[in-house]
Amino acid sequence: MVSLSYTVLFSLVVSLVVASHKGQGSMRKRHVQAGCKAGGSQVSTSGLPTQSNALLADASKPPTHTSGLPTQTSGLPTQASGKPSQTSNSTQPSSQPTPTGGKYQLVDHYQGQDFMNEALWSYFTGTDLTNGIVDYVSQATADSQGMVHVQNGAAVLSVNNKTDLPLNTRRQSVRLTSTKTYNAGLVIADIAAMPVGCSLWPAFWSFNLEKWPIAGEIDVIEGVNKQTTNEMTLHTGPQCTLDKSASFSGNVLSTDCETTSTSNTGCGISDPDPSSYGQGFNDNGGGVYARLWDKDGIRIWFFARPSIPQDISSGNPDPSSWPAPNAFWSTSTCDVATHFYDHSLVIDTTLCGDWAGAVYGNSGCPGTCAQAVADASNFDHAYWMINSISTYE
Ligand SMILES: *[C@@H]1O[C@H](CO)[C@@H](O)[C@H](O)[C@H]1NC(C)=O
Ligand SMILES: *[C@@H]1O[C@H](CO)[C@@H](O)[C@H](O)[C@H]1NC(C)=O
Repeated sequence: MVSLSYTVLFSLVVSLVVASHKGQGSMRKRHVQAGCKAGGSQVSTSGLPTQSNALLADASKPPTHTSGLPTQTSGLPTQASGKPSQTSNSTQPSSQPTPTGGKYQLVDHYQGQDFMNEALWSYFTGTDLTNGIVDYVSQATADSQGMVHVQNGAAVLSVNNKTDLPLNTRRQSVRLTSTKTYNAGLVIADIAAMPVGCSLWPAFWSFNLEKWPIAGEIDVIEGVNKQTTNEMTLHTGPQCTLDKSASFSGNVLSTDCETTSTSNTGCGISDPDPSSYGQGFNDNGGGVYARLWDKDGIRIWFFARPSIPQDISSGNPDPSSWPAPNAFWSTSTCDVATHFYDHSLVIDTTLCGDWAGAVYGNSGCPGTCAQAVADASNFDHAYWMINSISTYE
């Protein structure tokens, strides 16, 4: 049930994500049509499982599967039971010195082996309903394949690059979901490198596993193929829009955040800074993404590594001292307190599928997306290298 629930939810998320990408109108339409067709029990022509289509047909209804979802009190997702992590089974993230005197107090600090600890991060193993040519593997498999490990203190989360594969064979990758959920507060993700290459679609985001989309989705880092700048997007229930008059530096892609009335377009902001995503991000040794969710709204800042504020480095983050955010969805036109709650953090890398695959022909990448997946050498830079993720309240 957990697996199904995750799967169904991911399908929904994916439809948003796909629709949120400009120029994908025809793809969005196809999803909606598939949803309408799927009132019955037949598998649609889009190839999406029936469950997802049924939900897509009425995305305003939250998924009904609620049992077994990870929560702080109920503990582990089914996947983790009886299969303790090979590296650590602490139920607490590793600690760091407690900051003193800051406006924000540290709640959780994830680093190194924490990302291989299924008590903290569950490894999704369901089918990728973005139609990716990807095989999301368990923690144990990722570990045995050398896809996840700690290097210089950073957690490396990789796509498998060991062998060439026959065309259209799913390549192994990982998708991690925090078992703990978060509400208002500050999330600081210090990332040394992100997956880069043709066919890749990496993302760092959060959503409510049980109540999507009415409890919101926040996409912090996302892009595909050779994209050079980051896209940040919200997806919500009714009556949440992006206030363009708020102070932020990114470029508005669309303003209505509501899932259903906009056919899942969401409200996106693009960061014009080429160090915010992909190779440009990695060339600087990455940097810090900071997400502040509070009574004023939701803000995202990106700081390339040479520009990380001292208060972040010292563990006493003070957003009031930072410049205007790269993205800001103000409470003036979106009541954040009601549109967003109980979010799990997600880190994943999928391959091809509904976004990376659909735009592959115009991406500047050679051959076809499926050919790229088959060639192992395309994945030598297909890994997240995460120094830490810290949460503050
Ligand atoms: C994991 O938990 C088991 C049982 O509580 C314990 O014996 C073992 O030492 C723990 N392993 C690690 C790596 O902490
Ligand atoms: C896979 O990628 C890693 C990281 O770039 C690299 O060190 C390794 O040599 C690659 N493996 C193969 C088999 O090429």
